[in-house]
Amino acid sequence: MKIDVVSIFPGYLAPLRESLIGKAVSRGLIEVGVHDLRTWTSDVHRTVDDSPYGGGPGMLMRPEPWGLALDALAPLGGPQPRLVVPTPAGRPFTQALARELSAEPWLLFACGRYEGIDSRVAAYAADRMVVDEVSLGDYVLAGGEVAVLVMVEAIGRLLPGVLGNAASHEQDSFSDGLLEGPAYTRPEVWRGLPVPEVLLSGHHAGIARWRRDESLRRTAQRRPELLGAVSLDDADRAVLEQ
Ligand code: ADE
Repeated sequence: MKIDVVSIFPGYLAPLRESLIGKAVSRGLIEVGVHDLRTWTSDVHRTVDDSPYGGGPGMLMRPEPWGLALDALAPLGGPQPRLVVPTPAGRPFTQALARELSAEPWLLFACGRYEGIDSRVAAYAADRMVVDEVSLGDYVLAGGEVAVLVMVEAIGRLLPGVLGNAASHEQDSFSDGLLEGPAYTRPEVWRGLPVPEVLLSGHHAGIARWRRDESLRRTAQRRPELLGAVSLDDADRAVLEQ
């Protein structure tokens, strides 16, 4: 997968060279390009922002540098990336969207700062590429960079070969619509706290049932709204009624 990121703080994206994603980059599984938006300014101050028409607080990003960035990175008539614009006004970023984006050959992330990007940029881009305005959650960050780090990590770990153990993301929270339950490793008793006995039993069906029950209980307690989208059998319902 090819990933391009445009930002006025390219240094903010340095963590893409670290850890899991960094390793995937050095192994050639992901190709990352980080670009400074100011490359596409022409005035001495390399201005990227201006005050909003109609008034109001804060500054907006002007459209011209963004138009030139799109033209340079994805020339008209050539192959086009899917454009992802992080914004608190976007649709929610979920595991399902991470999975959908992980199937794309090329993603281009446009990091807004200040009060965001002039709305014509997304409208203009939508004429030639798929555009998603995406929110991480109901809170406001200072810009899209941290949101991009989050999204690239969630998407990147789904790519074939990126995780050591292919099974490990099939058991993630959300892959079956439920939160993952508690998990334990050695020692068997730590500071007086034992590991639940069933996990030491070697009884695979019993362990799977216990894990399912714990996932159901935790989801009911912490994220009850998720249960509406999960198919439940009689055993599941019995646990939830306890
Ligand atoms: N930029 C600022 N706040 C954001 C949020 N909550 N999600 C995505 N991008 C953002």
